[in-house]
Amino acid sequence: MKLDFHSHILPGIDDGARDIEESVMLAKALKDWGFERVTCTPHITSKYPNTPEDIRPAFELLKEEVAKSGVGLDIRLSAEYRLVPETWPKVLENNWLMPIEDRFLLMELPISHREEMGCINPVEEFRRVASMGLTPILPHPERYFYLNEKELMEILEAGGKIQCNYGSYAGLYGEEVRQRAVTLQDRGLVSFYGTDLHNAHYVQVIGSWLAEGNSIREY
Ligand SMILES: [Fe+2]
Repeated sequence: MKLDFHSHILPGIDDGARDIEESVMLAKALKDWGFERVTCTPHITSKYPNTPEDIRPAFELLKEEVAKSGVGLDIRLSAEYRLVPETWPKVLENNWLMPIEDRFLLMELPISHREEMGCINPVEEFRRVASMGLTPILPHPERYFYLNEKELMEILEAGGKIQCNYGSYAGLYGEEVRQRAVTLQDRGLVSFYGTDLHNAHYVQVIGSWLAEGNSIREY
């Protein structure tokens, strides 16, 4: 099935869709690209310290509006958990984990600054989540320039899987990120791909890349 389990299409929750109109537009784009199911993965970070209760009303609204619009897309709820001291320990303490397809968890790192992780050791956290019987997934490692090869291998050895962004291949984040994503793919390290869809600019860039003959993966 064509499943996108990395998206920011909930209205007004994080730096993704601002309102329900934009959310429905993004859902339509996903459907046009062939996706049958999309999992909403709003950020849980120091900037967006969302709890499941904060997120759920926006999710219910989106499901309702997408159904009304006749888009025909199965919409599920999870989150993208950033390994930062402001939110990750609280998520664990309060059991706020909402696994994708009951088994995957998106565990992102700070995009540019490793220091934002504080004392958190990502390898240990991947191991912890794997020991819960879940598959921890590292989204867009091609974007973490500070992450070295040794750490990436340790995350994989801890049970982690890699998810690259379609947008990275489409050049959304620049040439260096694109090359890093291609290298990860060529090395056979990428298990999953996601849109990480945030707004109309993503739709335009990923849409053009698909129109050039590239395609969405099936799982
Ligand atoms: Fe994301």
